[in-house]
Amino acid sequence: PSGHAGGKILGVLALFLVMVWYSIYREDRYIQLFYFPVQETNKTTCPLGEVERKAAQLIGNYTRDHPLFLQLKDYFWVKTPSLYELPYGTKGSEDVLLRLLSITHYSLPESIQSLKCRRCAVVGNGHRLRNSSMGDTINTYDVVIRYSPGPGPPLPPQCHPQLGLTPVMSQRLNNAPVHGYEQDVGSKTTMRLFYPESAHFDPRTENNPDTLLVLVPFKPMDFQWMEAILNDKKRVRKGFWKQPPLIWDANPEQVRILNPYYMEVTAAKLLNLPMKQPRKVKQKPTTGLLAITLALHFCDLVHIAGFGYPDSANKKQTIHYYEQITLKSMAASEHNVSHEAVAIKRMLELGLVKNLTYF
Ligand SMILES: *[C@@H]1O[C@H](CO)[C@@H](O)[C@H](O)[C@H]1NC(C)=O
Ligand SMILES: *[C@@H]1O[C@H](CO)[C@@H](O)[C@H](O)[C@H]1NC(C)=O
Ligand SMILES: *[C@@H]1O[C@H](CO)[C@@H](O)[C@H](O)[C@H]1NC(C)=O
Ligand SMILES: *[C@@H]1O[C@H](CO)[C@@H](O)[C@H](O)[C@H]1NC(C)=O
Ligand SMILES: *[C@@H]1O[C@H](CO)[C@@H](O)[C@H](O)[C@H]1NC(C)=O
Repeated sequence: PSGHAGGKILGVLALFLVMVWYSIYREDRYIQLFYFPVQETNKTTCPLGEVERKAAQLIGNYTRDHPLFLQLKDYFWVKTPSLYELPYGTKGSEDVLLRLLSITHYSLPESIQSLKCRRCAVVGNGHRLRNSSMGDTINTYDVVIRYSPGPGPPLPPQCHPQLGLTPVMSQRLNNAPVHGYEQDVGSKTTMRLFYPESAHFDPRTENNPDTLLVLVPFKPMDFQWMEAILNDKKRVRKGFWKQPPLIWDANPEQVRILNPYYMEVTAAKLLNLPMKQPRKVKQKPTTGLLAITLALHFCDLVHIAGFGYPDSANKKQTIHYYEQITLKSMAASEHNVSHEAVAIKRMLELGLVKNLTYF
């Protein structure tokens, strides 16, 4: 009877619908699994080539061909002539570099080298990071670059190990700490930029075991300090504007020497500073702007957090997330932070970098 045939047709139809649904479902799963892995925000969208394109608009003769770190072979097999002295080149520092580079390394860890997309966060030390709850967001980036800033309270004399106190006491002074501030600044550190006068942090507790400790050389003494620390040679005290640590428990395998090329680019291309300055009006880029420049030559995406200073009229506002110093402490420095702010604003307007906190 016809009712029986109708049932059959319905059955076939139902089977057909199930098959259609199943194939769509499979397709969906396929797309989900292979095209859009369910992950944190936008891990899959990599704006490949965008940083290069936009950076070339801002930086004349932009190239990614220069190595990030100095390596021994450049000073041993071929004597690479450098145009400038520190901080823009290595002219005149070749001998101490030969010694220092023979005990440090220059390679990038395989875990970074193999990344298909280098999503980078450059984390400053600005007061705006306080209570920002940015820690989890910062930790999601593939590469987190931090730096220890120079200005800060002068070291109390009792904290100098050479005066008879233990290194444990000198560690109370902590520059750009992560420990205790994880919620606001995160805990991941891929690279930490520092120089002797700013190296007041415990290399082990304030970093991850694989953090690269990147020395930013400003003067030949900085190479000598690093070599003395790593080779446990006699420490030199003269020639620093603030006492650097005399004991510094770092693994030499994690130490890198930043190529001064990036300081040159920061000064010449981003700040338009004259490369040959009369000795008196020496203005140098801050390590913060340098860290951004480095990221622009290395990353596929650059986000910044904790940059910027309070209004210069605001004399009482503290400038760092971890210590009570004001803009006054920057006054005597060789940096012009308002000039640098203009450079960073230009990057933001171009969409070359993005700010994660107010800038
Ligand atoms: C994620 O990607 C979408 C679309 O590409 C974009 O609108 C959004 O701003 C991105 N979010 C983040 C956090 O980058
Ligand atoms: C780019 O390089 C050329 C050749 O070395 C040089 O003449 C020119 O001044 C450079 N331009 C900038 C903006 O640095
Ligand atoms: C951060 O939050 C704590 C506790 O809520 C508060 O006491 C402190 O004043 C806040 N600090 C800043 C700089 O907003
Ligand atoms: C610092 O930079 C600002 C803005 O570029 C400029 O107006 C000012 O004269 C500079 N100050 C010094 C001391 O060079
Ligand atoms: C970035 O800075 C601008 C001011 O220059 C601000 O309006 C914006 O809210 C900031 N973005 C974030 C995510 O804080």
